[in-house]
Amino acid sequence: MSEDRKLTAAMFIGVRGEGIISFGSGQPDLPPPQEVYDILPDYSGFKYGLIQGQENLRDALAKQYPRSTSDSFVITNGASEALDLSLRAIAWLYRKKGGNKPRCLLCRPYYYSYLPLVEYAGFEPVFTDLQEGRIVYEDFERKIKNCQAVLINSPSNPTGRVEAIDTLKKIEKITEELGVYVLSDEVYKDLIYVRENYLIKGPHVVTINSFSKTFAMTGLRVGYLWSLDSDLVKMVIEMKSHTSMNTSIIAQEMAYTATTVPKRYVDEQLKIWESRRDMIYKGMAELGLDLWKPEGAFYVLPKIANPRDFVWDMFHDHKVITYLGEWFGAPDRVRFSYALDVDKIEEGLDRVGKYLKARKA
Ligand SMILES: Cc1ncc(COP(=O)(O)O)c(C=O)c1O
Repeated sequence: MSEDRKLTAAMFIGVRGEGIISFGSGQPDLPPPQEVYDILPDYSGFKYGLIQGQENLRDALAKQYPRSTSDSFVITNGASEALDLSLRAIAWLYRKKGGNKPRCLLCRPYYYSYLPLVEYAGFEPVFTDLQEGRIVYEDFERKIKNCQAVLINSPSNPTGRVEAIDTLKKIEKITEELGVYVLSDEVYKDLIYVRENYLIKGPHVVTINSFSKTFAMTGLRVGYLWSLDSDLVKMVIEMKSHTSMNTSIIAQEMAYTATTVPKRYVDEQLKIWESRRDMIYKGMAELGLDLWKPEGAFYVLPKIANPRDFVWDMFHDHKVITYLGEWFGAPDRVRFSYALDVDKIEEGLDRVGKYLKARKA
């Protein structure tokens, strides 16, 4: 592949058009709950809001998390800002105590923003490779001893796998013993097909979450972090007061409304995701692709020969958007999001099948 065929995720984010099928960004195509729109005609708050986040939303979240009050939350611009601020706050506090270069453990393949975020915050990244999409605890245990933080993501983007509860409990234990921060990115916690979510807990746990996926509100940019470490929470608020300031207050009010809708909304979405999962998994297996069966979230990560040519050709010649596994630390794979309706999944698979067949011939 020549340099002028350079591929970046930014080329594809938000790209729509006649005939394009996007297995690209992880953006639910299903609508948010109707109740979320219903607040709009009467909404009148346009002043600055609390940096930490609106009280009603934090109170509602406190009811969902054990041993918490509204003080344990910061409402952010999506999970993205929660990840960024937490990492920068951890690195900052470490340096203030005289530390030099902090290290952060990443489970590879990882969500593609983790590596840049970790590096922007000044961490040296350390990697533990997943096996069949899951943490190998022995390797994790060896590497965590030299780190100040670790990022966990279950269910995972891009693998679609859900971590074993036993492993999560061992991680809770060792990180508590070592005093290592665990950033547990649970943005897909409501999209699990195999079991209930297991919430990692502990004095150094920072749970990251979002309204983007569960409530299909990606563009509203509402996420949050939850932590019982009050020093960290204070540091995050301090940083946010000099950077983005408050998260959009109308979006927070819409997110608050989402917390009040019946659980039926999430259950019904989950059924739709599961049937799409079955369809794409079966379709890819029939194409002879080597992939893990997703247990949560809405991604598959098959092995594909010459992935750069695949992603380039599929887009330019067949109008199908896919993401290079290389961006996620999986250079022999390609990521497909199945956040699109079944007709499109079917048509996309058909185009992929034809391309792969022609390539073989
Ligand atoms: C694992 C993971 N974390 C965080 C995010 C960012 O979510 P948000 O839209 O809340 O910023 C995403 C989005 O795709 C994701 O997949």
